[in-house]
Amino acid sequence: AEQQSRIAALVSDYQAQPGGLLPLLHALQDELGYVPDAATPDIARAFRLSQAEVRGVLSFYHDFRSAPPARHQLRLCRAEACQSMGSEALAQRLRARTGLDDAGRSADGGLELRPVYCLGACACAPALLLDGELHARVDAAALDALLAGCLE
Ligand code: FES
Repeated sequence: AEQQSRIAALVSDYQAQPGGLLPLLHALQDELGYVPDAATPDIARAFRLSQAEVRGVLSFYHDFRSAPPARHQLRLCRAEACQSMGSEALAQRLRARTGLDDAGRSADGGLELRPVYCLGACACAPALLLDGELHARVDAAALDALLAGCLE
């Protein structure tokens, strides 16, 4: 309910602004971490759009997410130096261990995997970021240890 009134307040703040739709969506994502599906009807009404049009805008900009972020964010480097040092095998191990779906979320919702293209740690490949922290020269054992801390 608190979230709903926050959404309503933001919608009314931005609806008066010309071109207010994108700033509103960014404001929602900044505050809530995502743009809830449940907000679509209100947004559509406020901006005189169809719900499909609002969803179209949301899916056009890949930055927007429609579900809360997972507890842990893992960005595995898939650029050349890391590829040559085995990042693909790490990705496969991750998928096997965590049951990632097509969107890169683990079955328990605790972990989200996304690729990144070079973390500036090529000399210490393969590299990954877990919740913003860089881990380099990651091998299977190190990956398992990191995962153990993430998954219930
Ligand atoms: Fe992976 Fe540069 S290629 S850190």
